Amino acid sequence: MRSGERKEIAKLTDIAYIPCMTIRPIIIHPDPRLKTVAAPVTDITDAVRRLGADMLETMYDAPGIGLAAPQVGVLSRLLVMDCVKGEGAPPRPMVLINPEIVAASEETNTYDEGCLSIPEQYAEITRPAEVDVRWMGLDGEEHQEHFDGLWATCVQHEIDHLNGKLFIDYLKPLKRQIITRRMQKLKRERARA
Ligand code: NI
Repeated sequence: MRSGERKEIAKLTDIAYIPCMTIRPIIIHPDPRLKTVAAPVTDITDAVRRLGADMLETMYDAPGIGLAAPQVGVLSRLLVMDCVKGEGAPPRPMVLINPEIVAASEETNTYDEGCLSIPEQYAEITRPAEVDVRWMGLDGEEHQEHFDGLWATCVQHEIDHLNGKLFIDYLKPLKRQIITRRMQKLKRERARA
């Protein structure tokens, strides 16, 4: 990500005063922190603002379209996402605190999902096609929005993370086991490197 874009993101997310954002290491499955139900955020502190900014930076760097706090080892109910696609489209970085799905469509959508905590593994997952989500913003205000398409899939995937659930938990045990073994191998290789 270029610095010009970064300034734009800071402006959009009300985090402009944070002098520099840090890329945080992403936890790779399997890890008990990815299986834990995260705790609600009670106050918008500087630490929370910094977490949001760092997570956006980490997500864009990866690159990814969504990231939940447990993936960077913080067991708090906060997620970031930006599912804007296409060349030249302005970014739309979002920080969602204590997000809740308040309504979901009966109609479903199937996407080939991946996860920054399960690199290079993809599987088709079926979820409600549209959801209404309520959350608290970094501005301390309550927000509610209707999501469809990739945004709906992404927000549900990330909220699952806050509940200790991964997309592979929707798969049959054998397939999940194969992916988990691959990740264990990847972690061993990374630890040796
Ligand atoms: Ni994920």
